[in-house]
Amino acid sequence: MSYLVTGVAGFIGFHIAERFLSQGQPVTGIDCFLDSYPRPIKEDRVQRLREYSLFRFVEQSLIEANLEALLDGISAVFHEAGQAGVRPSWGTNFHIYVENNILATQRLLEAVTHARVRRFLYASSSSVYGNAPELPIRETSPTQPISPYGVTKLAAEHLCSLYWKNLGLPVVSLRYFTVFGPRPRPDMAITIFAKAILAGEEMVVFGDGEQSRGFTYVDDVVDANVRAAERDVSGQVFNIGGGGRITVNALIHLLEEIIGKRAIVRHTESQKGDALHTEADTSRAYQALGYQPATDMREGLAKTVASIREFYKL
Ligand SMILES: NC(=O)c1ccc[n+]([C@@H]2O[C@H](COP(=O)([O-])OP(=O)(O)OC[C@H]3O[C@@H](n4cnc5c(N)ncnc54)[C@H](O)[C@@H]3O)[C@@H](O)[C@H]2O)c1
Repeated sequence: MSYLVTGVAGFIGFHIAERFLSQGQPVTGIDCFLDSYPRPIKEDRVQRLREYSLFRFVEQSLIEANLEALLDGISAVFHEAGQAGVRPSWGTNFHIYVENNILATQRLLEAVTHARVRRFLYASSSSVYGNAPELPIRETSPTQPISPYGVTKLAAEHLCSLYWKNLGLPVVSLRYFTVFGPRPRPDMAITIFAKAILAGEEMVVFGDGEQSRGFTYVDDVVDANVRAAERDVSGQVFNIGGGGRITVNALIHLLEEIIGKRAIVRHTESQKGDALHTEADTSRAYQALGYQPATDMREGLAKTVASIREFYKL
């Protein structure tokens, strides 16, 4: 078995690749170091993967790469590449989302039709739901994104299901709910909050902090991908969440306890495009994949804080 991980220098792609490599399975990774956040953070991840002799890295965009050659000998594709982040998707940057979330996915799907890939996992997002009418959110909930980012993630998910329905491509879409864990993205709330508390600096909370999220530990996301690659679930869509939800205020309290310091918080107005509450109903993933989140919030946060401390020397 040989795997292709797209967006391998990114937060989630790195963890998927590391899981397979640590089990002695070969991984080809592709990433174009999109400047969505500082390159050294992505290089650090790739450097860690290069320690495995079974890792092959291609620095290129999916939009330009010779995908036929890249897919040669690959049994499963984990498509994690994309432009993440809800707030910057408004305004003049939208073309970056269209190119890297929609066009790149379409190009990859097209190439997979000529390859012998057994499974294609697409990293979808809870943002396809927008403000869901009911919690926890089921896969049957209406998909009504409230951000341009969510629109591009949903468009790519639709492309995946078209390639399944019309061409029989073995595609599975996993809708991740806010993922966290070691070697995180710098733009995510947990990274920003933890860095501020560690440095004794002020942090900004949008709104009153009573908005809530269903957070998912990255090892659980990796586990869901491995399960979906092994089972015959092509054409299906699954919520991948961590169980329950927590408010931003409660998250900050947990971080204060773990770090042992008080946060200095300033509240500003809410941001357009942010869902008020998210929480995954993961019963479909449990029934079809045997997926169950295994890491609790405190344990996962402690590991995340340790990694932030080490990387930023705080
Ligand atoms: N992190 C989350 O909470 C979360 C939640 C839901 C969905 N997702 C999805 O999961 C995927 C991974 O997210 P992440 O948090 O690891 O983000 P990330 O930004 O850390 O990783 C994405 C990687 O993809 C690369 N990339 C982007 N466009 C590319 C292209 N055209 N060719 C090659 N490489 C390209 C980027 O350089 C980056 O390293 C994304 O598709 C994102 O939309 C993430």
